[in-house]
Amino acid sequence: MELSGKNVLVTGGAGFIGSHLVDQLIKQGCTVRVLDNLTNGKLKNLSHHENNSRYEFVMGSVTDPFDVALVMEGIDVVFHLACLGVRHSIRHPFENHRVNAEGTVLLLQEARKQHVMKFIHCSSSEVYGTAQWVPMTETHPTHPCTVYGASKLAGEAYARAYHSTYGLNTVVIRPFNAYGPRSHHEGDAGEIIPKSIVRAMNGEAVLVFGDGLQTRDFTYVEDTAKGLVAAAESDHTAGLTFNIGSNFEISIGKLAEKIVEVVGNPAAHITHLENRPGDVLRLYADSTTFCKLTSWQPAVSFDAGLAKTVQWFKDRPEKLSELFGQESGANWQ
Ligand SMILES: NC(=O)c1ccc[n+]([C@@H]2O[C@H](COP(=O)([O-])OP(=O)(O)OC[C@H]3O[C@@H](n4cnc5c(N)ncnc54)[C@H](O)[C@@H]3O)[C@@H](O)[C@H]2O)c1
Repeated sequence: MELSGKNVLVTGGAGFIGSHLVDQLIKQGCTVRVLDNLTNGKLKNLSHHENNSRYEFVMGSVTDPFDVALVMEGIDVVFHLACLGVRHSIRHPFENHRVNAEGTVLLLQEARKQHVMKFIHCSSSEVYGTAQWVPMTETHPTHPCTVYGASKLAGEAYARAYHSTYGLNTVVIRPFNAYGPRSHHEGDAGEIIPKSIVRAMNGEAVLVFGDGLQTRDFTYVEDTAKGLVAAAESDHTAGLTFNIGSNFEISIGKLAEKIVEVVGNPAAHITHLENRPGDVLRLYADSTTFCKLTSWQPAVSFDAGLAKTVQWFKDRPEKLSELFGQESGANWQ
């Protein structure tokens, strides 16, 4: 499918990955409508598109049938990224389910009604739970550890069901952990890399929950966004489910050491705290199937991506203490 000239809806487009996806789609000649309720997304992530006639922002919720019907009008391709996150799900399981699972059915229903050509459902590696073997192909069992993982699994099951029952062209993408500019350090949306960068820049303790032997496969956010685009462009993805990861595994302990080193504040140090509830112990992707089918490849090495991310935080206009004040440590509590 040629995306240039298509009308595209990005749910959650003001968020971290969503805003990079919007950048990519605008660059490729799409007309992009964003639906976001700004729970965690920020308009400033998209402010550089404000005067572009091919960009439109709609403030609304994926759980509201009226909003969903309104934004779906005239849309050729949907990228569904709106969600509430892992740590949010620990304190607010039902709300998390409503947005991540029920919101997905609502969007699928409206997409079918309005004859959308393609629906890219952004799921997550969290649907797997802890790796039983590595690297993890798409056939690895799904045993989510959190309500977030479970609600993402429900959402992707609905997407596949809309393909098999109604013939809607749905594709499920399971990104492994993404990092990069615009990632969240704040509140319950905060993720390990941005939280640790902000703490290290302030000369504070970088927090490692548990023994630090947990591993993740981190992908630079622009690569993740390009993977979502590649899924839409390919004519061989309908009804299928794919991993996108970097094929690069690092322990959280090692990651914390690297962040302290790259940030370069001599006062920064590492502290171990209790385990996070529902923490997945190991994630390491095998994305071979997707790479072969679409010719997508992660292009940014972890060291290069981490350096860019640290620089982005250093260039932020806010005072360091302000950023630190937004970081909540054990952010599921
Ligand atoms: N960040 C990662 O490491 C990662 C890894 C795997 C999968 N994912 C998936 O990628 C997608 C984007 O994640 P992200 O990291 O950019 O998170 P994010 O929180 O930055 O983006 C989600 C966006 O959804 C919006 N949103 C929340 N509730 C909404 C609602 N009811 N209606 C409309 N918009 C709503 C938020 O305001 C936010 O802008 C999600 O589907 C997530 O599950 C992320």
